[in-house]
Amino acid sequence: MSTIEGWFGRAFGKELNPMYYLGALTVYLFYIVLVSGIYVFVLYESSIFGAWSSLEYMSNELRWSAGIMRSLHRYASDAAIITIFAHMFREFMRDRFRGVRWYSWFTGIPVLWMTALLGISGYWLVWDTMAQYIAIASSEMMDWLPIFTEPMARNFLTSEDMNDRFFTLIAFIHVIGIPIFLVFGVWIHLFRISRSTINPPRGLAIGTLLALVVLSIVYPAVSHEQANLDTIPASVNLDWFYLNIFPLADSWSMGAIWALVWGVSVFLMILPWFPIKKQPPVAVVFPEECNGCGQCEDDCPYSAIEMVKREDDSPYDEVAVVQADHCVSCGICAGSCPSSTPFRKMDPLVTGIDMPDDSIHALRNDTNTVLENLSEDTRMIVYGCAHAANLDQYNNSGTAVITLPCTGMLPASFIDYSLRRGNVDGVFITGCVDNNCHFRHGNNWLDERIDHERKPALRSRVDRNRVHIFRAETSDQKKLGGALDEFRSYLEGYKPDTVEKEETKEVENHD
Ligand code: HEM
Repeated sequence: MSTIEGWFGRAFGKELNPMYYLGALTVYLFYIVLVSGIYVFVLYESSIFGAWSSLEYMSNELRWSAGIMRSLHRYASDAAIITIFAHMFREFMRDRFRGVRWYSWFTGIPVLWMTALLGISGYWLVWDTMAQYIAIASSEMMDWLPIFTEPMARNFLTSEDMNDRFFTLIAFIHVIGIPIFLVFGVWIHLFRISRSTINPPRGLAIGTLLALVVLSIVYPAVSHEQANLDTIPASVNLDWFYLNIFPLADSWSMGAIWALVWGVSVFLMILPWFPIKKQPPVAVVFPEECNGCGQCEDDCPYSAIEMVKREDDSPYDEVAVVQADHCVSCGICAGSCPSSTPFRKMDPLVTGIDMPDDSIHALRNDTNTVLENLSEDTRMIVYGCAHAANLDQYNNSGTAVITLPCTGMLPASFIDYSLRRGNVDGVFITGCVDNNCHFRHGNNWLDERIDHERKPALRSRVDRNRVHIFRAETSDQKKLGGALDEFRSYLEGYKPDTVEKEETKEVENHD
């Protein structure tokens, strides 16, 4: 997966890598589908005799307005299928579909089917020979289910059987019914994700729109011949993004097709539990150390923390509570807790919220140990995460490496602390690149804490010249090595501010 992402990264740059925005791109494509759909629908005639001709009129007589809108509507819908499958594949490959994350995966499947139904019902509305083909095939499929008292396929026996009322019903389903369910479905899909990225970056949005407009001009969407129920269409060019299931109807029984549809759906839906993911223990709150600031609730990428009213005699009004079934054990909450500062003398160090397997106390101990072991003339400590470029190979007597579940777990005060311990010249921060954090926002939060844009912020006394951030994916291993060498050379020639060293003793006693 990282190789594919690397290719896209080289073509689009890290900022605009479409692989990082597949969910957001899908939402954006839906916007294009919505706007172009409304435009086309205003000029569309929802009747058996008017439907095809009104679309022909748009494509031929209003080529540069409604014609382009029609093509945009079709191509943005096709593109949405590509982004949805790519989004799904990516979440699967990055193992972000199991454990607590089952929810987003599970709710994604109905959304996928709604999108498919939206596309299929849209093709009915063209009422050309392809619409005729899929209308008959899908009616036969529906008739196999014991739902309708009257067979649906009876509507398509002859031209006289088809009536405008039925046609209006399909238009209603396509224009109002499914879109409402789809919006609701996407809302449910994103329910457990805080601050979901639903807008792609501007450059990617403009580029996508331009590409679709160019495609619409060069290769406008057209209809087949008008449908005629008194004849059997000789051949049709299917839209394989939406209509790929229908050719099976020529050789498979309807029961077999339904078995395939349900089989694939059920298989995908239960996938998060096969095999069950062993989840590290979830975050734990230590109420006596929690001041109710709510920063952990704000920073949690999976809405797993809730601030509730305190019932004890604490001077603070609220206390954090972890919803275990939402927590992905990223540790970002521990990094955002103001009590997670290594300068506190408390031993063991207890914070307001912490990870049982990767505690802030252990992080302080590890930091102390690795710093003590540094012996080269130029020394640096590297904090990185377990989901980006591998750091083990850089661990040596001049470079101390600490790998966290997510760099968002690193309280900014550790940077200050490491520098003030005195056996290190610089702090190097790495981990997932922007907009591609394994835990969604951890890297952004740490960068913002360092830039004083998020609490608890890095103290302004820290010499920023001694802190370097270089985010690196697994595919950026070489670049990371280069960046570390570069920072080391830089530190070799850098003379830290002597006044800053004087302050060290004073702050080490802070609790
Ligand atoms: C209409 C279709 C879909 C749309 C618009 C959509 C959109 C999104 C968005 C915006 C996010 C949040 C990304 C972020 O902020 O980190 C997301 C997350 C997710 N989606 Fe979808 N999605 C769709 C379909 C699907 C499907 C079909 C699946 C899989 C079956 C899926 C699986 C997931 C998973 C597992 C996550 C959570 C990733 C995490 O835990 O960080 N989505 N989706």
